[in-house]
Amino acid sequence: MNKVKKALIPAAGLGTRFLPATKTIPKEMLPIVDQPILLYIVEEAVRAGIEDIILVSGRGKSAIEDFFDCSYEVEDLLSKTGKVEMVDRLKNIRNMANIISIRQKEALGLGHAVACGSPIIGKDNFAVLLGDEIMYSAVSEPTVTEQLTNVFSETGLSTVAVMQVEPDQVEKYGIVAGEKNSAGQIQITDVVEKPKKETAPSRYALPGRYVFTAQIFDSLKNAKPGKNGEIQLTDAMTDVAKKYGMLGSEFKAKRFDAGDKLGYLMANIEIALMREDLSSDLRTYLKKLVPTL
Ligand code: G1P
Repeated sequence: MNKVKKALIPAAGLGTRFLPATKTIPKEMLPIVDQPILLYIVEEAVRAGIEDIILVSGRGKSAIEDFFDCSYEVEDLLSKTGKVEMVDRLKNIRNMANIISIRQKEALGLGHAVACGSPIIGKDNFAVLLGDEIMYSAVSEPTVTEQLTNVFSETGLSTVAVMQVEPDQVEKYGIVAGEKNSAGQIQITDVVEKPKKETAPSRYALPGRYVFTAQIFDSLKNAKPGKNGEIQLTDAMTDVAKKYGMLGSEFKAKRFDAGDKLGYLMANIEIALMREDLSSDLRTYLKKLVPTL
Protein backbone atom coordinates (compact mmCIF):
# COMPACT_ATOMS: atom_id res chain seq x y z
CA MET A 1 0.00 0.00 0.00
CA ASN A 2 1.44 3.33 -1.01
CA LYS A 3 0.12 5.24 1.97
CA VAL A 4 2.08 7.98 3.71
CA LYS A 5 1.20 8.45 7.37
CA LYS A 6 4.51 9.72 8.74
CA ALA A 7 6.37 12.96 8.14
CA LEU A 8 9.78 14.13 9.28
CA ILE A 9 10.52 17.78 9.90
CA PRO A 10 14.18 18.71 10.45
CA ALA A 11 14.29 21.41 13.13
CA ALA A 12 17.81 21.29 14.49
CA GLY A 13 19.27 24.28 12.64
CA LEU A 14 20.72 27.15 14.65
CA GLY A 15 18.82 29.86 12.80
CA THR A 16 21.86 32.09 12.47
CA ARG A 17 20.19 34.19 9.76
CA PHE A 18 17.69 35.46 12.35
CA LEU A 19 20.08 36.27 15.18
CA PRO A 20 19.70 37.83 17.69
CA ALA A 21 15.98 36.82 17.68
CA THR A 22 16.92 33.15 17.48
CA LYS A 23 19.43 33.26 20.32
CA THR A 24 16.76 31.91 22.68
CA ILE A 25 13.77 31.27 20.38
CA PRO A 26 13.99 28.40 17.86
CA LYS A 27 13.61 29.82 14.34
CA GLU A 28 10.73 27.38 13.78
CA MET A 29 8.84 29.24 16.52
CA LEU A 30 9.10 32.69 14.89
CA PRO A 31 5.57 33.84 14.09
CA ILE A 32 4.06 34.50 10.70
CA VAL A 33 1.17 36.75 11.71
CA ASP A 34 0.13 34.88 14.87
CA GLN A 35 1.26 31.31 14.46
CA PRO A 36 4.75 29.83 14.46
CA ILE A 37 6.30 28.89 11.13
CA LEU A 38 6.33 25.28 12.30
CA LEU A 39 2.55 25.18 12.68
CA TYR A 40 2.08 26.06 8.99
CA ILE A 41 4.34 23.12 8.13
CA VAL A 42 2.59 20.70 10.49
CA GLU A 43 -0.83 21.79 9.18
CA GLU A 44 0.31 21.17 5.61
CA ALA A 45 1.32 17.62 6.57
CA VAL A 46 -1.83 16.91 8.57
CA ARG A 47 -4.04 18.08 5.69
CA ALA A 48 -2.29 15.42 3.59
CA GLY A 49 -3.37 12.67 6.01
CA ILE A 50 -0.12 12.49 8.00
CA GLU A 51 -0.67 11.13 11.52
CA ASP A 52 2.83 10.93 13.03
CA ILE A 53 5.22 13.86 12.87
CA ILE A 54 8.84 13.21 13.69
CA LEU A 55 10.59 16.41 14.70
CA VAL A 56 14.34 16.17 14.50
CA SER A 57 15.39 18.89 16.88
CA GLY A 58 18.52 19.93 18.71
CA ARG A 59 19.70 21.59 21.89
CA GLY A 60 17.76 24.68 22.98
CA LYS A 61 14.65 23.69 21.05
CA SER A 62 12.41 22.54 23.90
CA ALA A 63 9.96 25.39 23.13
CA ILE A 64 8.95 23.32 20.09
CA GLU A 65 7.91 20.35 22.23
CA ASP A 66 6.11 22.62 24.71
CA PHE A 67 4.16 24.17 21.85
CA PHE A 68 2.47 20.84 21.08
CA ASP A 69 1.85 20.07 24.75
CA CYS A 70 -1.07 21.16 26.95
CA SER A 71 -0.66 24.58 28.52
CA TYR A 72 -3.01 24.08 31.44
CA GLU A 73 -2.79 27.57 32.95
CA VAL A 74 -3.44 29.37 29.64
CA GLU A 75 -6.35 27.10 28.71
CA ASP A 76 -7.86 27.40 32.18
CA LEU A 77 -7.67 31.18 32.10
CA LEU A 78 -9.17 31.32 28.59
CA SER A 79 -12.02 29.00 29.63
CA LYS A 80 -12.81 31.12 32.69
CA THR A 81 -12.90 34.29 30.58
CA GLY A 82 -15.16 32.71 27.96
CA LYS A 83 -12.55 32.54 25.15
CA VAL A 84 -13.89 29.19 24.03
CA GLU A 85 -12.79 29.49 20.40
CA MET A 86 -9.15 29.94 21.37
CA VAL A 87 -9.32 27.04 23.83
CA ASP A 88 -10.61 24.84 20.99
CA ARG A 89 -7.87 26.08 18.70
CA LEU A 90 -5.17 25.25 21.26
CA LYS A 91 -6.68 21.81 21.88
CA ASN A 92 -6.85 21.19 18.17
CA ILE A 93 -3.15 22.05 17.79
CA ARG A 94 -2.03 19.57 20.41
CA ASN A 95 -4.30 16.82 19.08
CA MET A 96 -3.73 17.29 15.35
CA ALA A 97 -0.95 14.69 15.14
CA ASN A 98 1.31 12.51 17.24
CA ILE A 99 4.40 14.61 17.70
CA ILE A 100 7.51 12.53 18.23
CA SER A 101 10.65 14.43 19.01
CA ILE A 102 14.17 13.13 18.56
CA ARG A 103 17.51 14.85 18.62
CA GLN A 104 20.19 15.33 16.06
CA LYS A 105 23.16 15.55 18.39
CA GLU A 106 25.66 16.85 15.86
CA ALA A 107 25.08 19.21 12.92
CA LEU A 108 26.26 16.78 10.23
CA GLY A 109 23.89 17.88 7.47
CA LEU A 110 20.34 17.47 6.22
CA GLY A 111 20.94 13.87 5.15
CA HIS A 112 22.12 13.04 8.66
CA ALA A 113 19.04 14.79 10.18
CA VAL A 114 16.73 12.64 8.01
CA ALA A 115 18.67 9.49 8.92
CA CYS A 116 18.02 10.30 12.62
CA GLY A 117 14.35 9.46 11.93
CA SER A 118 15.13 5.92 10.77
CA PRO A 119 14.50 4.13 14.13
CA ILE A 120 11.01 5.67 14.29
CA ILE A 121 10.06 5.45 10.62
CA GLY A 122 11.38 1.92 10.11
CA LYS A 123 10.24 0.48 6.77
CA ASP A 124 7.40 2.97 6.26
CA ASN A 125 7.05 5.55 3.51
CA PHE A 126 7.35 9.10 4.79
CA ALA A 127 7.28 12.75 3.83
CA VAL A 128 9.98 15.30 4.62
CA LEU A 129 9.02 18.96 4.99
CA LEU A 130 11.71 21.60 5.45
CA GLY A 131 10.67 24.33 7.81
CA ASP A 132 12.21 27.24 5.94
CA GLU A 133 9.62 27.05 3.21
CA ILE A 134 5.95 27.79 3.73
CA MET A 135 3.69 26.39 1.03
CA TYR A 136 0.39 28.17 1.28
CA SER A 137 -2.63 26.54 -0.34
CA ALA A 138 -6.29 27.43 0.09
CA VAL A 139 -8.24 25.07 2.35
CA SER A 140 -10.16 23.80 -0.71
CA GLU A 141 -6.92 22.85 -2.51
CA PRO A 142 -4.55 19.93 -1.81
CA THR A 143 -1.38 20.95 0.02
CA VAL A 144 1.99 20.36 -1.65
CA THR A 145 2.56 17.31 0.56
CA GLU A 146 -0.81 15.93 -0.54
CA GLN A 147 0.06 16.61 -4.19
CA LEU A 148 3.20 14.50 -3.69
CA THR A 149 1.46 11.70 -1.78
CA ASN A 150 -1.11 11.54 -4.60
CA VAL A 151 1.63 10.93 -7.18
CA PHE A 152 3.30 8.49 -4.81
CA SER A 153 0.13 6.46 -4.26
CA GLU A 154 -0.26 6.10 -8.03
CA THR A 155 3.35 5.28 -8.85
CA GLY A 156 4.94 3.86 -5.68
CA LEU A 157 8.07 5.87 -6.51
CA SER A 158 9.72 8.36 -4.20
CA THR A 159 8.42 11.74 -5.38
CA VAL A 160 9.83 15.18 -4.64
CA ALA A 161 8.56 18.68 -5.32
CA VAL A 162 10.46 20.66 -7.98
CA MET A 163 10.16 24.24 -9.19
CA GLN A 164 11.84 26.20 -11.97
CA VAL A 165 14.21 28.90 -10.75
CA GLU A 166 16.21 31.61 -12.51
CA PRO A 167 19.79 30.65 -13.45
CA ASP A 168 21.26 32.92 -10.76
CA GLN A 169 19.25 31.04 -8.11
CA VAL A 170 20.40 27.46 -8.82
CA GLU A 171 23.33 27.85 -6.42
CA LYS A 172 20.88 28.04 -3.49
CA TYR A 173 19.21 24.66 -4.09
CA GLY A 174 19.51 20.99 -4.86
CA ILE A 175 18.96 20.75 -8.63
CA VAL A 176 17.60 17.68 -10.42
CA ALA A 177 18.55 16.22 -13.79
CA GLY A 178 16.14 14.15 -15.87
CA GLU A 179 13.54 14.08 -18.63
CA LYS A 180 9.80 14.64 -18.33
CA ASN A 181 7.61 11.52 -18.69
CA SER A 182 4.21 11.43 -20.38
CA ALA A 183 2.50 12.40 -17.09
CA GLY A 184 4.61 15.58 -16.95
CA GLN A 185 6.80 14.44 -14.06
CA ILE A 186 10.57 14.50 -14.23
CA GLN A 187 12.14 11.04 -14.17
CA ILE A 188 15.09 12.02 -12.00
CA THR A 189 18.50 10.65 -12.98
CA ASP A 190 20.74 12.79 -10.79
CA VAL A 191 20.54 15.42 -8.06
CA VAL A 192 23.29 18.00 -7.58
CA GLU A 193 23.54 20.03 -4.38
CA LYS A 194 23.88 23.76 -5.03
CA PRO A 195 25.68 23.67 -8.39
CA LYS A 196 27.20 26.69 -10.11
CA LYS A 197 24.89 28.02 -12.79
CA GLU A 198 27.40 27.04 -15.50
CA THR A 199 27.30 23.37 -14.50
CA ALA A 200 23.69 23.00 -13.24
CA PRO A 201 21.98 20.05 -14.95
CA SER A 202 18.68 21.99 -15.19
CA ARG A 203 16.78 24.83 -13.55
CA TYR A 204 14.51 22.48 -11.59
CA ALA A 205 15.18 23.12 -7.92
CA LEU A 206 14.12 21.28 -4.77
CA PRO A 207 12.05 23.57 -2.54
CA GLY A 208 12.05 21.19 0.45
CA ARG A 209 9.09 18.83 0.08
CA TYR A 210 9.78 15.14 -0.43
CA VAL A 211 8.03 11.76 -0.19
CA PHE A 212 10.40 8.84 0.22
CA THR A 213 10.24 5.11 0.59
CA ALA A 214 12.47 3.70 3.34
CA GLN A 215 15.05 2.96 0.59
CA ILE A 216 16.46 6.42 1.30
CA PHE A 217 17.73 5.19 4.68
CA ASP A 218 19.97 2.56 3.07
CA SER A 219 21.41 5.21 0.78
CA LEU A 220 21.91 7.60 3.69
CA LYS A 221 23.67 4.90 5.69
CA ASN A 222 26.25 4.59 2.91
CA ALA A 223 26.46 8.32 2.10
CA LYS A 224 29.86 9.95 2.45
CA PRO A 225 30.21 13.61 3.42
CA GLY A 226 29.46 15.65 0.29
CA LYS A 227 29.14 19.39 -0.38
CA ASN A 228 30.51 21.43 2.54
CA GLY A 229 31.61 18.19 4.25
CA GLU A 230 27.96 17.42 5.21
CA ILE A 231 25.90 14.27 4.71
CA GLN A 232 23.71 15.57 1.91
CA LEU A 233 20.16 14.34 1.35
CA THR A 234 20.63 15.05 -2.34
CA ASP A 235 23.48 12.49 -2.61
CA ALA A 236 21.25 9.78 -1.13
CA MET A 237 18.48 10.87 -3.49
CA THR A 238 20.77 10.34 -6.49
CA ASP A 239 21.44 6.81 -5.25
CA VAL A 240 17.72 6.03 -4.86
CA ALA A 241 16.92 7.62 -8.23
CA LYS A 242 19.52 5.49 -10.00
CA LYS A 243 18.59 2.22 -8.24
CA TYR A 244 14.79 2.44 -8.01
CA GLY A 245 13.62 5.58 -9.82
CA MET A 246 12.41 8.89 -8.41
CA LEU A 247 9.96 11.49 -9.71
CA GLY A 248 10.13 15.27 -9.62
CA SER A 249 6.70 16.86 -9.55
CA GLU A 250 5.85 20.51 -10.08
CA PHE A 251 3.30 21.78 -7.57
CA LYS A 252 0.59 24.38 -7.10
CA ALA A 253 0.89 26.58 -4.01
CA LYS A 254 2.06 30.01 -3.00
CA ARG A 255 5.59 29.50 -1.73
CA PHE A 256 7.38 31.70 0.80
CA ASP A 257 11.04 31.37 1.68
CA ALA A 258 10.58 32.11 5.37
CA GLY A 259 14.20 31.14 6.11
CA ASP A 260 15.29 34.42 4.58
CA LYS A 261 14.59 37.82 6.17
CA LEU A 262 12.92 39.34 3.13
CA GLY A 263 10.95 36.15 2.43
CA TYR A 264 9.86 36.11 6.07
CA LEU A 265 8.57 39.67 5.85
CA MET A 266 6.81 38.93 2.57
CA ALA A 267 5.14 35.87 4.10
CA ASN A 268 3.87 37.98 7.01
CA ILE A 269 2.41 40.61 4.71
CA GLU A 270 0.87 38.26 2.15
CA ILE A 271 -0.57 35.81 4.66
CA ALA A 272 -2.03 38.71 6.65
CA LEU A 273 -3.58 40.00 3.41
CA MET A 274 -5.27 36.61 2.98
CA ARG A 275 -6.69 36.75 6.51
CA GLU A 276 -10.26 38.00 6.91
CA ASP A 277 -9.56 39.63 10.27
CA LEU A 278 -6.57 41.66 9.02
CA SER A 279 -6.73 42.16 5.25
CA SER A 280 -8.92 45.24 5.12
CA ASP A 281 -6.96 47.30 7.67
CA LEU A 282 -3.58 46.13 6.32
CA ARG A 283 -4.61 46.96 2.75
CA THR A 284 -5.61 50.49 3.82
CA TYR A 285 -2.29 50.91 5.63
CA LEU A 286 -0.23 49.62 2.68
CA LYS A 287 -2.06 51.88 0.22
CA LYS A 288 -1.23 54.88 2.38
CA LEU A 289 2.36 53.76 2.82
CA VAL A 290 3.26 52.89 -0.77
CA PRO A 291 3.00 56.42 -2.28
CA THR A 292 5.43 57.66 0.37
CA LEU A 293 8.13 55.16 -0.66
C1 G1P B 1 18.53 22.35 1.68
C2 G1P B 1 18.85 21.21 0.72
C3 G1P B 1 18.67 21.65 -0.72
C4 G1P B 1 17.27 22.22 -0.92
C5 G1P B 1 17.03 23.36 0.08
C6 G1P B 1 15.60 23.88 0.01
O1 G1P B 1 19.53 23.33 1.60
O2 G1P B 1 20.17 20.74 0.98
O3 G1P B 1 18.88 20.56 -1.58
O4 G1P B 1 17.11 22.68 -2.24
O5 G1P B 1 17.26 22.92 1.43
O6 G1P B 1 15.41 24.96 0.87
P1 G1P B 1 19.71 24.52 2.70
O7 G1P B 1 18.80 25.63 2.24
O8 G1P B 1 19.29 23.94 4.03
O9 G1P B 1 21.14 24.87 2.65
